[in-house]
Amino acid sequence: MNHKKIDPKSNSLRENYHLLISGIAPRPIALVGSKDSSNNFNLAPFSYFNAFGANPPVVGFSPALSGRTGLPKDTLANIESTKEFTVSIVTSEIVYQTSLASCEYEKNIDEFDKSGLGKYNSNVISTPGVLESPFIMECKLIDIIKLGNKPGSGNLILGEVVFFHINEDLFKDDGSIDAFKIDQIGRSGGGWYTKVKESLFKLSKPRGIGVGFDSIPYKFLNTSLTGNQLAKLAAIEKIPKYVDINIPLNFNNLVKKLSEYINKDEIETAWKYILKWKYLNE
Ligand SMILES: Cc1cc2nc3c(=O)[nH]c(=O)nc-3n(C[C@H](O)[C@H](O)[C@H](O)COP(=O)(O)O)c2cc1C
Repeated sequence: MNHKKIDPKSNSLRENYHLLISGIAPRPIALVGSKDSSNNFNLAPFSYFNAFGANPPVVGFSPALSGRTGLPKDTLANIESTKEFTVSIVTSEIVYQTSLASCEYEKNIDEFDKSGLGKYNSNVISTPGVLESPFIMECKLIDIIKLGNKPGSGNLILGEVVFFHINEDLFKDDGSIDAFKIDQIGRSGGGWYTKVKESLFKLSKPRGIGVGFDSIPYKFLNTSLTGNQLAKLAAIEKIPKYVDINIPLNFNNLVKKLSEYINKDEIETAWKYILKWKYLNE
């Protein structure tokens, strides 16, 4: 792999923006409801968005100063003034309406109306969420961290989630949310979006503390076994006991066999093959 070395200071705003949104992807999308002091409602999507803590529950997103004019977006001005907002999660059913809500309508124009999305009444604050979203959070402003004063500079808005509204159909019997039912959309670079439920896969994380790559005999690290396969070997909590089994005596055939066992998640068996190899060769 040859890495191109890029100093952001020698890049234009546009180039840095495209690097960020292409590399940091897919990003969740917050459809943010806000209002000004005269109760004009506003709705806009933001994918510089994430959760930042659970106790208290905190979310953050960043309306940047306009890349063209350097002016603050309505969402930022509204939240500075009213100190509250809603975040509705974007699903595949509302992705085109979400995109429509991102148009730069005049300040007093209500993008709920423009995008045809309904208002969902909040419990604690007085700004609505998006009726068609299955996951809505009412948020009170914690802080706004200004990240510059030039076109494209971010304004990290942090808010405490003071109420959740979640479609009951999303819950599994054990109380967790069904990753396939929530159907979120993620945003990548260059106009690309992801349907999250179509790209889900399960990764069984190490139950305890993995033994690590340095426990794998060095010779196996430079074979056709991939980093992911080696990581599965290294994630085992305890190396199994030696057993006297028959293994292929040809090293390449042994590696092939290991690869098969690792792919079938038969990690203990793979280790038993390695231990026998160690016994014969060290
Ligand atoms: C999917 C999507 C994600 C976006 N993410 C951001 C973002 O993170 N930050 C930002 O400043 N603008 C983002 N935009 C652009 C804003 O939505 C757009 O500037 C909008 O007009 C701002 O509305 P407002 O002036 O009513 O706040 C995004 C647009 C789309 C379609």
